[in-house]
Amino acid sequence: MSLQVVSGLDQLVTIAADRVVELAAKAIAENGRFTIALAGGSTPKPIYEKLASEECARRVDWARVQIFWGDERCVPPEDPQSNYRMTREALLDRVPIPALNVHRIHGEQDPKDAAETYASELQAVFGGDAEKGDPPAEGFDLILLGMGDNGHTASLFPGLAAVLEQRKWVMVQYVEVVAMWRITLTPVVINAARNVTFLVSGAGKAEGLREVLEGAYQPEVLPAQVIKRRNGQLTWLVDRPAAGQLKNVDLY
Ligand code: 6PG
Repeated sequence: MSLQVVSGLDQLVTIAADRVVELAAKAIAENGRFTIALAGGSTPKPIYEKLASEECARRVDWARVQIFWGDERCVPPEDPQSNYRMTREALLDRVPIPALNVHRIHGEQDPKDAAETYASELQAVFGGDAEKGDPPAEGFDLILLGMGDNGHTASLFPGLAAVLEQRKWVMVQYVEVVAMWRITLTPVVINAARNVTFLVSGAGKAEGLREVLEGAYQPEVLPAQVIKRRNGQLTWLVDRPAAGQLKNVDLY
């Protein structure tokens, strides 16, 4: 696991966008495609806007990119809370990615049906069995994750079964703290990825980040702790305000 502390959000955005472009070029050169699961929330939006900029977009072979999401709110795609809507406006409407390469979680559908559909799409792209419990035969090239100030990530929230799920790839949960149904990748899929990068910005995340990285291991309370480096690379890309309470920065 590596921790990269950058000065502020602008630098985090630039470094994250460059990392996506570089990993895409590497994966496409090696395997003919780049598979990525995007984070929701607000932190990643400027990164997606940067990826859509002329400077970045022309460096990506979008026809070979397969886009998924780490989680979705169970709302229609045009709802202001939709992670898909945020990504469509920031990135998808501005780059030449084929519609078939965009694997939206159908938040407008019955959550159980939407989760089953999403699991089938993951199976079709990655192989393996989303129900039996074997992780994807080959994992995502990159999964981007955010972290809430309570230590949640994707829609793996404290106290919910999905945090400690060992078999299913996708789960539906009613999340009390945000009073909505959510669909999320489980650690089974996330921890099988070649690269996982957390994106954490702002002083509001400092206490949660210290607890997750330096506190006792208690993933049911701090779900981001369940994300482990299995075969791939786990990177925490954080800005200085978010790293403000870390004691052992140079140990990573
Ligand atoms: C979501 C995300 C969630 C998010 C964190 C951080 O759908 O909201 O998947 O896990 O990454 O809550 O959100 P911010 O980036 O807005 O702080």
